[in-house]
Amino acid sequence: MIISGKELSARLKADMAAEVATFPARYGRVPHLAVILVGEDPGSVSYVTGKAKASAEVGIRNTTIRRPDTISEEELLGIVAELNADAGVDGILVQLPLPRHISEERVIAAIDKAKDVDGFHPLNVAALWQKQPCTLPCTPKGIIKMLKAAGVELAGREAVVVGRSNIVGLPVAKLLLDENATVTVAHSRTRDLAEVTRRAEILVVAIGRPKFVTADMVAEGAVVIDVGVNRDPETGKLCGDVDYAAIEPKASVITPVPGGVGPMTICCLMENTIECFLRTRK
Ligand code: GUN
Repeated sequence: MIISGKELSARLKADMAAEVATFPARYGRVPHLAVILVGEDPGSVSYVTGKAKASAEVGIRNTTIRRPDTISEEELLGIVAELNADAGVDGILVQLPLPRHISEERVIAAIDKAKDVDGFHPLNVAALWQKQPCTLPCTPKGIIKMLKAAGVELAGREAVVVGRSNIVGLPVAKLLLDENATVTVAHSRTRDLAEVTRRAEILVVAIGRPKFVTADMVAEGAVVIDVGVNRDPETGKLCGDVDYAAIEPKASVITPVPGGVGPMTICCLMENTIECFLRTRK
């Protein structure tokens, strides 16, 4: 079974659009998401364009603020401060990565927690790890939605997450734990990685290396979630972190790249923006 994040997100976005259409009458306006893009990294440009397109589909107002990669940290913090103070802005997203001379940590911490639609603010991260109400990071949230939509049982099952980033690996491991899975987090320093990944009934891969996970690393019948978005060095086409063609026949459930996790991330960003909007109105 192939989980189409594209189809699932289209359904969820249609439901959100119907809800957002009622907001002007109820609240006087629609939610407003501000996205800051620094520089012209092609990956980041494509993500930001996708976010603007999804906003239009759902009826969310989107402002994308573009600045050259020569912007200073102070200027960037100034933009964040203005957006924080603007009662007409509900969500703020600073596209990562930022240029090396800017501290991502400082910029993320400067975003008003209540407008942190990425769920990256230290207070949101702390709330996640303490099982308190919080804004969940979009990719991990989207992954859990896909697993649930596919009817994958999580409680008591062996889950392996490959990758330990703040954006995906760590939070998805926590969300899987909250679903009562038994979770292993593997990474570049894991000894005998193939032996660890073969134990997985649910395998989530987020390491950012094209076709890194090969068929011999995956158990027959495993559920495989591929978070990678890479260029295949041979064909130049988009590909994931897993060797899809070789693993698809072995997996019971698998997500494609493109059209898998990516659209779900954007869909959850729309959901988070609506949640931030509603929270200040209730
Ligand atoms: N760069 C890669 N993924 C993400 C994400 O989910 N949010 C932001 N802000 N930047 C990213």
